[in-house]
Amino acid sequence: MNKKIKSKITPIIGLQWGDEGKGKGVARIASSLNKKDLIVRFQGGNNAGHTIWHDGQCYIFHLIPSGVFGQAQIHLGAGMVINPGALLEESNKIPPAIDLRARPKKTFFLKRMSVSSHAVLTLPTHLLLDTVSEYNKGKKKIGSTGKGISPSYTDLTLRRALRVGDIFYKDFKKKYEALKREHQETLWKVFGYKVSGKELKTNEKNFWRGIKFMRKLNFRESAEIVAEALAEGHKVIAEGAQGALLDVRFGNYPFVTSSHTIASGVGTGLGIPPEYIGGAIGVLKAYTTKVGEGPFPTELGGKKSRIWCRDKRVAEEKEKFPNPNLNSQDEFEQGVALRQAGSEIGATTGRLRRTGWLDIPLLKYAIRMNRATELVLTKLDVLNGFRKIKVCVAYKINKKKTEKIPFDLSRVKIKPVYRSFPVWPGKLQNYGKKLPKEALTYVKFLEKTLGAPILYVGTGPEEHHVVERYWR
Ligand code: IMP
Repeated sequence: MNKKIKSKITPIIGLQWGDEGKGKGVARIASSLNKKDLIVRFQGGNNAGHTIWHDGQCYIFHLIPSGVFGQAQIHLGAGMVINPGALLEESNKIPPAIDLRARPKKTFFLKRMSVSSHAVLTLPTHLLLDTVSEYNKGKKKIGSTGKGISPSYTDLTLRRALRVGDIFYKDFKKKYEALKREHQETLWKVFGYKVSGKELKTNEKNFWRGIKFMRKLNFRESAEIVAEALAEGHKVIAEGAQGALLDVRFGNYPFVTSSHTIASGVGTGLGIPPEYIGGAIGVLKAYTTKVGEGPFPTELGGKKSRIWCRDKRVAEEKEKFPNPNLNSQDEFEQGVALRQAGSEIGATTGRLRRTGWLDIPLLKYAIRMNRATELVLTKLDVLNGFRKIKVCVAYKINKKKTEKIPFDLSRVKIKPVYRSFPVWPGKLQNYGKKLPKEALTYVKFLEKTLGAPILYVGTGPEEHHVVERYWR
């Protein structure tokens, strides 16, 4: 039956390489939603890491939508890959008191959470396949998070995946063992890697605990729960994970994740028609970061930074650079200083995130793909202390100026064309709910160049650390 809809889904999409601060955006929106509104994840798995500061405490969500703080329904959609052990672990970290508005009734968040039976299960052997195949790629590695995401999606297209709905069938264990054997065979025959029983033991124990936990959850068909909410005119937020430039088809392939991270992924990830999807809110950080390998035209320190971030951990960097200078003449050091100022450490892997200036050509590419009609600018406060910042407004390729994104960023030599902006004196938060003139110039330049209004600007880690511009 075709239901008439009274509202549309709002996708919240990262416009860079992930880690734009979407979690905070969703959490902020979630705090104003009511019980019948809905927040859904439509792709990805626990490779995502959404950091939320709430009441002075830091939470990192990997599978559960960041909107868990409010009172809206939350849904883990069909397009996701779910590691049951990881879901259980994450759920256990959320105290019942997180349901602040529901506290009088003590409604635990699991009561308003549902899962799609169509989502794919991540098995312990998927994690091994991920890490072993990455290791074997040597210098050509992607820099995956090691959470088994690519092998899980691969099994879906190979038409042998186990899906969430399978956990209720009597033959689930048998099917699990058969797929595990196939994975072990691949590990041995393709990579010469022999899996020891011991190695899988802990992960398998967690997997089966997770399955037991999942059997007690609420299950809903993604398309149905969404259509119901839209038919009644409720708000539906689709919380993107990763970012547009990591989309499996339209990102910087092969340095991408394995799902569709762009707004049209909402359709296939939930099994809904395109007309259900409204304009997206695009989230961008005031500068750029990237974890893992792949081209990054505006990276501060270029290749040196890429190799440093691949090989070093936080403690080593802190020891070598206890006090890096944001205004150093050395771009590599500037990159280190920016990373430390913005705490740019992978929320899922603890890796150092590569840092660089904002890249307008890439942002325009992402905005076009997502039809981002509104923007959110995050972490502007991290630029406190710079004397001036740069923005890449075009590329020079073979001496020709262009804004066009080449088919393969890593096969061309790109020289970014920069424009500089002065930075405000002191800290952004000292200006209260107004932006200093230098910040306003930067924000207005972005709005004009990117062709969309910036709803609010992030000026600190907590939900209330924002300056609203067009917030509804
Ligand atoms: P995978 O998704 O674990 O296979 O990793 C593929 C690429 O996407 C790697 O470069 C990862 O660093 C990157 N990636 C995956 N998830 C995230 C995320 O949530 N934020 C930023 N980068 C991510």
